Amino acid sequence: MIKRGNWNSRIGFILAASGSAVGLGNIWRFPYTAGKNGGAAFLVIYLAAILALALPVLLAEAALGRATGKNPVGAFKAIAPRGLWKSVGYLGVTAGFMILSYYAVIAGWTLGYFFKAVSGEFNRLTAAGHDAATMSRHGFASFTSSPVLQIILLAVFLGLTIYVTSRGVSGGIERWSKMLMPLLLGLLLLLMVRALTLKGAGAGVAFYLKPDFSLITPSVVIAAMGQAFFSLSLGIGTMITYGSYVKKNENLPASTGWIALCDTLIAVTAGFIIFPAVFSQGMDPAEGPGLVFNILPVIFAKIPMGQVFGAFFFLLLAIAALTTTVSLLEVPVAYFIDERGWPRRRAAWIAGGICLVFGIPAALSQGSVGFLTRLPLVNTDFLSFWDLIWGNLVLSIGALLIAVFVGWIWKSGNALLEITRGSGRFRPAFLWVIAIRYLAPVLILVILLSKILS
Ligand code: PHE
Repeated sequence: MIKRGNWNSRIGFILAASGSAVGLGNIWRFPYTAGKNGGAAFLVIYLAAILALALPVLLAEAALGRATGKNPVGAFKAIAPRGLWKSVGYLGVTAGFMILSYYAVIAGWTLGYFFKAVSGEFNRLTAAGHDAATMSRHGFASFTSSPVLQIILLAVFLGLTIYVTSRGVSGGIERWSKMLMPLLLGLLLLLMVRALTLKGAGAGVAFYLKPDFSLITPSVVIAAMGQAFFSLSLGIGTMITYGSYVKKNENLPASTGWIALCDTLIAVTAGFIIFPAVFSQGMDPAEGPGLVFNILPVIFAKIPMGQVFGAFFFLLLAIAALTTTVSLLEVPVAYFIDERGWPRRRAAWIAGGICLVFGIPAALSQGSVGFLTRLPLVNTDFLSFWDLIWGNLVLSIGALLIAVFVGWIWKSGNALLEITRGSGRFRPAFLWVIAIRYLAPVLILVILLSKILS
């Protein structure tokens, strides 16, 4: 039997799991999704979804992982050896591959933007006297439509992910997360101050904080719910896998509470950077996946030493993305190690290689190849489409099935024994049981159905 890894320190799990949670989901996906879905109204539903759905599912995943000490497939098998439940684990492993394949494309953009910042491109934009917004949009489009560059950046990012993952749990993942997460938060706060003091920032703050509830449609609700699960890395077994490395004496409710708090704070802060800046520049908050990459260079061009701050920011963002891509790759890797007996290195290289193959259509879907840039029937680009399928629908269905499994098959009583191990008490136990057995399954189902029927 190969010895499984463990987090080394008591806060190792908090840091590594927040490393997984905090990533492009907070800084890239949250602002553009909120921008497309009505701003403040989206924010309200998003926060409600975090509290009522995502937080209970996070605790359920972590407890399931720690109790079984397994990857998602192994965890379902350990509790329900017969029957179909283990296919939820397989769905998670597949989703891990698929999400990583397009996520690494965006992660590659952060590397590209790091080099752009270093080269002083953002400052040249404004110095040339052009409207910064138009110029940066231009720069973004030519950047993402260069096929060779897009594939190279994707491959480099996957290479880094494979390297860190193959070094194992505490050696790789934990060390990186520990050093860099606090730094990222500091820099975000700094940018927030700058964005809020831009001329015309008030309209952005109003867009973000003054809800217009008439904007809420089934699509908005499903986007907010999907974003809540996505942001906390739920629904595909990432937190089952990370939970399996947690020591028995660790306090799970406290740890998961911290993770959700950090993650939400960072996403909300990103909104306070992006929307004031978007409105002060007269840009469109609903413009889609390019939003953040178009707006941040504008802010950097407007602050003293913007070149240094810009370079530093994109570097940190790349690292935040790396601690996330590592957690995505870890799902299939843990499966290959536990269930197939592969050595870690081989598992990491093969799983990463598969992601590269699936990542190529996403990399070419932002202007390089016409067909992929505008898929027939769905009328959107391949990357956004893949994100909708895997990052929203499969994730939400996965979260639903995990809630039913933990609440009804494993049984909430057994889960509570695991949850309170190491902490002794868990005051909101009753609320958690209601959430995991009734609220989450019913609400997720109703939301998914309302979208299908609308
Ligand atoms: N939570 C990650 C982010 O916000 C994305 C992710 C989703 C990671 C699902 C793992 C599983 O960037």
